[in-house]
Amino acid sequence: MKELLSQYQQLAAASMDEATALPFATYCNDDIFKLEADKIFSKEWVFACAEQAIANPGDYFSFNLAGEAIAIVRGQDGELRAMSNNCRHRGTPLLDEGFGHVGRNIICPYHAWTYDDKGALKGAPHTGSIRIDKEKHCLPQFQLQIWSGLLFINLDDKAPPLSQRLRGIDNYTAIFEPQRFDSYSGGNLEHWDANWKLAMENAAEGYHVFKVHKETLETVGPTKTAYYVAGSAEWTITGGESVDNSSKLMKWFRGGYPEAYSHYLTIILPPSFVAILSYDSLSWIQMLPDGADKSVIRSGAIFPKSMFKEDKQSKAFTEAFFAEDKWICERAQRGMQSKLGKGGKLVELEKSVVDFHQYLASRLFGENVDEFIEGDNAKIFKE
Ligand code: FES
Ligand SMILES: [Fe+2]
Repeated sequence: MKELLSQYQQLAAASMDEATALPFATYCNDDIFKLEADKIFSKEWVFACAEQAIANPGDYFSFNLAGEAIAIVRGQDGELRAMSNNCRHRGTPLLDEGFGHVGRNIICPYHAWTYDDKGALKGAPHTGSIRIDKEKHCLPQFQLQIWSGLLFINLDDKAPPLSQRLRGIDNYTAIFEPQRFDSYSGGNLEHWDANWKLAMENAAEGYHVFKVHKETLETVGPTKTAYYVAGSAEWTITGGESVDNSSKLMKWFRGGYPEAYSHYLTIILPPSFVAILSYDSLSWIQMLPDGADKSVIRSGAIFPKSMFKEDKQSKAFTEAFFAEDKWICERAQRGMQSKLGKGGKLVELEKSVVDFHQYLASRLFGENVDEFIEGDNAKIFKE
């Protein structure tokens, strides 16, 4: 384990010129997963869901964050709260996982201890001669912050604010005015037989698009037009030209539309959020670990109400390229069991993967990593 840790540290900290794939064992080892759960998922800002997905009082989203059952509940007072979803009696998860609706009370399915929508214990039935101190049995609350209509939580109450982590990112995203995106569309929930880092790396790089997504994504965002916009270990933005953008291109040629509107951005925010931002929408994939060699993958999108169309074709398109990613990630995961195999050099189009590796190096090992850099095409988005 000691040797694996030191290899992990060394390879994850490497700069672009020396960067290679990480040691394969880091994608299947339980101890490495425990370290990541401890140093990353228990301390870092993690994307949960869109604010619009839990828009009404009583709406909730519940999910498993590397072993912690979490619920985000919109109370009857309209406020959003992130709280533990483990009952204070004997720990049973309270609300069902996923999206749902709860009334004024959250009732445990085991012995019916009952909490209000702020997580305060209201009562426990059949306690006999035992008195329950309600104050001492409330559900722990966690930090919850919003960026561009997206909810992030942090289990560490001493963590610095999300805005610090995202400093500078709006310089590139603001041109698309994501505050216009007031509608939400839920995507898929999938279980992949792949480590969360494989799913993250795969979503972060555009290098595989021409091969894995030849008939799907490559036709609308070709690999050869992809470029690095800006980034560091904290977050990365890459971009590319949208091919299937004829109406906006026409408007642009007529004037009045910035060049950026015929491009898209990929926002990579470790540990578990990658999104495509364009003039039309912000659509994301979220990858959360389910042990060392499995991930839970959720997707979704926000967009302006005016752009909503129940479009069977685009749904089928999204499902097709998701299936391609699942297939390649699960195949890559099988390669990670090799004891003799060794990863090779990362290429320029994988700079976003290098940034992610440096994020791992900084959070897991306290490594100092490379400075923020900006590519030539950044100017397209900074008009
Ligand atoms: S575990 Fe929840 S009431 Fe007993
Ligand atoms: Fe992909």
